[in-house]
Amino acid sequence: MARRKIVAGNWKMNMTPSEAVELVKTLAPLVESDDVDVVYGVPAIDIVPVVEAVKGSKVAVAAENMYFEDKGAYTGEIAPAMLVDAGVKYVILGHSERRDYFKETSEDINKKVLKAFEYGLTPIMCCGESLEQREQGITMDWIRQQVKVGFQNVTADQAKTAVIAYEPIWAIGTGKTATSEQAEEVCKGIRECIAEIYDEATAEAIRIQYGGSVNAGNAAELFAMPDIDGGLVGGASLKADFGKIVNYK
Ligand code: 13P
Repeated sequence: MARRKIVAGNWKMNMTPSEAVELVKTLAPLVESDDVDVVYGVPAIDIVPVVEAVKGSKVAVAAENMYFEDKGAYTGEIAPAMLVDAGVKYVILGHSERRDYFKETSEDINKKVLKAFEYGLTPIMCCGESLEQREQGITMDWIRQQVKVGFQNVTADQAKTAVIAYEPIWAIGTGKTATSEQAEEVCKGIRECIAEIYDEATAEAIRIQYGGSVNAGNAAELFAMPDIDGGLVGGASLKADFGKIVNYK
């Protein structure tokens, strides 16, 4: 069965609650699609108003992070049950900005991935190499490590429903997109890694996105690659262009 494409926006630390509602209204007629899953990844404080604003549409909402404990004395953190209760369906985990600036390790991210599944949230687990790693020729070794640790103790049935976002760090926010061949090569490698950990059926089912300077001009070529099942979109998700990316065909 063909995998359904999934195009998710990662708003990062942008949009106040009122701006968020405005953006959802602007995008509403532009992101309608019968064959692409559309997700808005929004800052925690925007979750409640955005869930309300997308009601009645097919758009799902993602959190940009989540803690791996159920509840308790973790000042400033957001618990999985809070996301579920607010109507969130997906959670972006292990974005390179969280790994770099907030020192999240693959082990932390694995705990979050497991917790997300426990609560019925779909993780969008990010991985990606730095420019230095690419130049050293260790891209695939690094990504395989991130995927293997990130998916420790995740069952095949859970993995089948997961989303992995391949985001080369050098392509994020730089306007320097990976070529469709570069992106495909790594996404294919990730799928092979999933086949090794689990089996072919799991590898065929899991959805793998590309992220890093995706825009209205390059989405069609990237998403046409056999192992790229959509995109995780930063900057371009904050404007009308996001509608063109969703309707890339
Ligand atoms: P840009 O699309 O702004 O490069 O960001 C990509 C990204 O980090 C999405 O998670």
